[in-house]
Amino acid sequence: MTRTVRPRRSELATPASNEWMFAKAAASDADLVFLDLEDACAPSERKEARGKAAQALCDLDWGRTLRAIRMNGIDTHWAYGDVVEVVTQAREALDVIIVPKVRRARDVWWVDTLLTQLETDLGLTERIALEVLIEETEGLENVGDIVRASDRLEAVIFGAGDFSASQGARVDTNFDPLVPYPGDIWHYARARIVVAARSCGIDAIDAPFPNYRDPEAYRTSCDRAGAMGYVGKWAIHPSQVEIANTAFSPTPEEIAHARELVAAYREAEAAGRGATALDGMLVDAAHLRHADTITRTADLLGL
Ligand code: GLV
Ligand code: MG
Repeated sequence: MTRTVRPRRSELATPASNEWMFAKAAASDADLVFLDLEDACAPSERKEARGKAAQALCDLDWGRTLRAIRMNGIDTHWAYGDVVEVVTQAREALDVIIVPKVRRARDVWWVDTLLTQLETDLGLTERIALEVLIEETEGLENVGDIVRASDRLEAVIFGAGDFSASQGARVDTNFDPLVPYPGDIWHYARARIVVAARSCGIDAIDAPFPNYRDPEAYRTSCDRAGAMGYVGKWAIHPSQVEIANTAFSPTPEEIAHARELVAAYREAEAAGRGATALDGMLVDAAHLRHADTITRTADLLGL
């Protein structure tokens, strides 16, 4: 399956019921903004929020930002209405639907099938992409099947807040000063998700970070996720967008070093050798792959 790859360093959450927040979200430099019909909306506001979201998607100038909604989970009575109403009204102004609380591959199939019917019926010219949240222990158990459930799927997001509740944990981030935990309490979940995502060529996006007043801790969390292979992180406040964009962009030094490394390897290869050295470090085919990830990201971001 060939997947579409797009920048996803920052995914900014905005409650779809709060229309006064939309202009700021649209003007932000987030790679993706999603208008949230799920947990950021009070249950009594969820149906009305659909129209607000669709109108904002159509009317505002989103620039290069991917336009998304987070629908309600498919085990709720809101799910079908979220998809039908927003897609019918927003049409090509909606790029991505985020599906929360995915537990099994068939949850993704259900949304994919509904979208296929709608796109055909409405004569849409662009295919709507999907992202899924892994935030249930059952979803993590099944993540290998979930990532292969639809070729619309472009990213998997770790939802640490709900996941922590699902697992029965007593904290929802690793930065709770009252509960010191050696290492990353979510390391297993994070590792499982990024391996599943990469195994079929889609992106892994790290969890929301609740304390938006602590930019340094947010940056640390971005850096740790980036070290594992995550390409972006949720932002729950516009102030987190720039931090994520910077953290998940390769630096000019990294890009220059990756290009030098590729050149050194090619030179060795032309001379009939499979390995060489650069700045006292071994360069072999594995390092070439690593450098390739950096240069492809740089190209994707126009750096
Ligand atoms: C996101 O939805 C989360 O639960 O962390
Ligand atoms: Mg959640």
